Amino acid sequence: MKLLLNSPLDMHLHLREGDMLKHVAPFTAQQFSGAVIMPNLISPVDSLIKVEQYRNDIKKCCGHENFEPFMTLFFRPYTREELEQVRDKIIGIKLYPAGITTQSENGVSDFSAIEPTLQIMEDLQIPLLVHGESNGFVMDREKEFLDVYQTIATQYPRLHVIMEHITTEAAVRFLEKHENVSATVTVHHLLLTLDDVVGGMMQPHLFCKPIAKRPTDREALREAVFSGNKKILFGSDSAPHPRHKKECVGCAAGVFSAPVALPLLAQIFEEQNCLELLQGFVSDYAINRYGLTVPKKEVALTDTAWEVPAKYGDVVPYYAEQTLRWSLI
Ligand code: DOR
Ligand code: ZN
Repeated sequence: MKLLLNSPLDMHLHLREGDMLKHVAPFTAQQFSGAVIMPNLISPVDSLIKVEQYRNDIKKCCGHENFEPFMTLFFRPYTREELEQVRDKIIGIKLYPAGITTQSENGVSDFSAIEPTLQIMEDLQIPLLVHGESNGFVMDREKEFLDVYQTIATQYPRLHVIMEHITTEAAVRFLEKHENVSATVTVHHLLLTLDDVVGGMMQPHLFCKPIAKRPTDREALREAVFSGNKKILFGSDSAPHPRHKKECVGCAAGVFSAPVALPLLAQIFEEQNCLELLQGFVSDYAINRYGLTVPKKEVALTDTAWEVPAKYGDVVPYYAEQTLRWSLI
């Protein structure tokens, strides 16, 4: 059997920089027609010059692939002039609470200080992408952050707010309440619970932020995605780290899912008898919610099984050494 997807999009992706960028970018450029690129580099992408430079670097690593990197800016207080200049070069601005995850030290620590920038973003119609976690107990962080989402979504009703990589039932419920709020969901959060990460032997390659939650949370995500919720978009949050940063004391957060993203999605949508909803989840809903124009690209998969390699270079992929039912043609 063959499965054709039109212009699949990964609405949340970490491509890194330097050698890692060169190594991982082709996995996404081959499978997707575009991806939303996260700005949490060692020196955050927080100016027009850095956006342009990073975009050029990415394009160089994608060869001849018809692939659009949708750039994001790292949230900090910006002036209207700065945002007017950068507006056409970005898809949105990514807000990280300070210190919440990889390279987010320069994120927001005082939420009362973000208002002027949010006002400008609403005026200029620049979407706000958010890593929505508080600094409370790890299992409650996403739920606690809903208060912040509530304030922003109500105070700026014309601002498109995207709750990135949601993992809880509470977030799914919250989404229903606000027309201007969308969410991304990863493929690993549709599959994992905390048990898979630390319930038996600890699995560093499944450790990510937000941490996988309870079975009831995973069920709520699955129910929403497999019923075709049009406010929920696919964002892999593929976040590569070299092995020595994962298999060590102080393991870095991130699941490297880019190489398996579409085959794995096809597999789980097929298991749920809803393969026909995959096109919406990986493309149509995002185009609609963001009002995007994307490169036309048809991506074909076939139901031929393959075994995911143990590693790609120095990075261990999600589903390493396991068999997937679908492969890219
Ligand atoms: O697990 C994660 N890894 N979550 C994030 O929010 C950031 C990402 C990274 O950059 O490594
Ligand atoms: Zn991320």
